[in-house]
Amino acid sequence: MAKEIKTIGVLTSGGDAPGMNAAIRAVVRTAIARGIKVKGIKKGYQGLLNEEIIDMEARNVSDIIQRGGTILGTARCKEFKTKEGQQKGAEICKKHGIDGIVVIGGDGSYRGAQALSRLGVNTIGLPGTIDLDIACTEYTIGFDTAVNTAMQAIDKVKDTSSSHERCSIIEVMGRNAGYIALWCGIANGAEDILLPEKYDFNEQDIINNIIENRKKGKTHHLIINAEGIGHSTSMARRIEAATGIETRATILGYMQRGGSPSAKDRFYASIMGAYAVDTLLQGKTNRVVGYQHGEFIDFDIEDALNMEKCINEYQFKVAYLLSV
Ligand code: ADP
Ligand code: F6P
Repeated sequence: MAKEIKTIGVLTSGGDAPGMNAAIRAVVRTAIARGIKVKGIKKGYQGLLNEEIIDMEARNVSDIIQRGGTILGTARCKEFKTKEGQQKGAEICKKHGIDGIVVIGGDGSYRGAQALSRLGVNTIGLPGTIDLDIACTEYTIGFDTAVNTAMQAIDKVKDTSSSHERCSIIEVMGRNAGYIALWCGIANGAEDILLPEKYDFNEQDIINNIIENRKKGKTHHLIINAEGIGHSTSMARRIEAATGIETRATILGYMQRGGSPSAKDRFYASIMGAYAVDTLLQGKTNRVVGYQHGEFIDFDIEDALNMEKCINEYQFKVAYLLSV
């Protein structure tokens, strides 16, 4: 028989992402509407181990849907990777009467959720990461805002780069994934896109491309470099030396993780938050919510973690086709 859920907890873990607040708000208000109590766990698994647990009412999540970051705070917690840490976390949940937890985070956070589920605390994961690197879902909370923030910043760099007839290398976030880079590559009309999934690029080809484009009359050359490739500053030095064209590197960094969430991030995060609570109330555990082909669905965490996500080859080719 499915365990009766009376109280749930919600936490955000790993890197923050715009839209996490919309998800927290949806979790809190859906639970209250269903007659369930909600506790906010501050600073991810670290806050759970430190018992930083607060009661959440509908008014605690007023006026947060438009705010970046996460009102609960987030953390990376080494202790929770240990069996002892996980056991302690499960005991703290029991002590506070928490029957189920919604974990908003990425792949790493799901591993923690899986451990809690094995120890009898029902868990549902929501995909919260700007990196879009979760295989079971076409959408992750924060990607849309982050990619728009990066795109707008790149437009600005491109203005000055074109005026000075420079080459620019702009490094975007994404850890080991190239989704922000691919999207900006297309949305900003980049001449080259360097992705960790395609590590076999040849710097000499880029140099030849820059020289060819200059001959064709292009006044700028924009290279979007993913964080997973890195080394933008040294690459800029080498390109300038080889082409004789002034080359500057810009690393966009943490600005990509901040800011008010886009309508898409507010909307999807809200639906996913409600979906997570309803999934817990069906007695399900060890699940993660995803979005595929226009539907919100849930998967077993282990199955989700075993799925593989690849850069779309056609989209990558189109990016180059359009940058002639
Ligand atoms: P993300 O959730 O964005 O992938 P991390 O990989 O940093 O970010 O994971 C966030 C947190 O999840 C970690 O700091 C840790 O507390 C927890 N976590 C990560 N991996 C595991 C694991 N294998 N077992 C238990 N908890 C984990
Ligand atoms: O996962 C989101 C992300 O911003 C990645 O793009 C980046 O590699 C990482 O987090 C940075 O993490 P931290 O905040 O620990 O420096």
